[in-house]
Amino acid sequence: KRLAVFVSGGGSNFRSIHEAALGGKVNGDVAVLVTDKPGCGGAEYARCNGIPVVVFPKSKSAPEGLSTDELLNVLRDLKVDFVLLAGYLKLIPGELVQAYPRSMLNIHPSLLPAFGGKGYYGSKVHKAVIASGARYSGPTVHFVDEQFDTGRTLAQRVVPVLANDTPEQLAARVLHEEHQVYVEAVAALCEDRIVWREDGVPLIRSRR
Ligand code: GRF
Repeated sequence: KRLAVFVSGGGSNFRSIHEAALGGKVNGDVAVLVTDKPGCGGAEYARCNGIPVVVFPKSKSAPEGLSTDELLNVLRDLKVDFVLLAGYLKLIPGELVQAYPRSMLNIHPSLLPAFGGKGYYGSKVHKAVIASGARYSGPTVHFVDEQFDTGRTLAQRVVPVLANDTPEQLAARVLHEEHQVYVEAVAALCEDRIVWREDGVPLIRSRR
């Protein structure tokens, strides 16, 4: 299967997906890296690994960026099957969401629906989790719809929130699990092992 990965930052989730694809754990290949920040770590990794990079959207700071239509054409020309958001911080235009029904995933560093939605990103998420007194947190992989973090949850993992956690410590604990749960979810997507229950809930069917 052909994958497009969208990043805005360091791209550690992108890297773990790419490594899983190279190692055969994910039955896919990363056809293109899409970013709104051409200088970010994820874009750098892509350039070092021969993965085409396109900038989206067009903005003052990235005039070379594509329009939504141009990006849709690129994704179609590259025969992309699945779109994976991995630390991409801009809202995906509805036209793009509609072009990939049940084929666009995002990972968010909290147990959605808690601590999700506009404004909850990066360390803001972990600060809010700690302030709430929650005893657990963890990443959520979900299908993307037209708002931030509101699509159908596909997979989650749980980590403890420890007594004197700083946001950075909690973020690192969650990020470690993100890398694993995203690879498992993408592997299932690429192997057509996702069952959609009649009430609309997607479930991963194990390999066995
Ligand atoms: C991660 O915390 C992810 O959950 C969120 O943004 C961060 C991206 O990290 N979407 P990376 O760029 O994949 O390292």
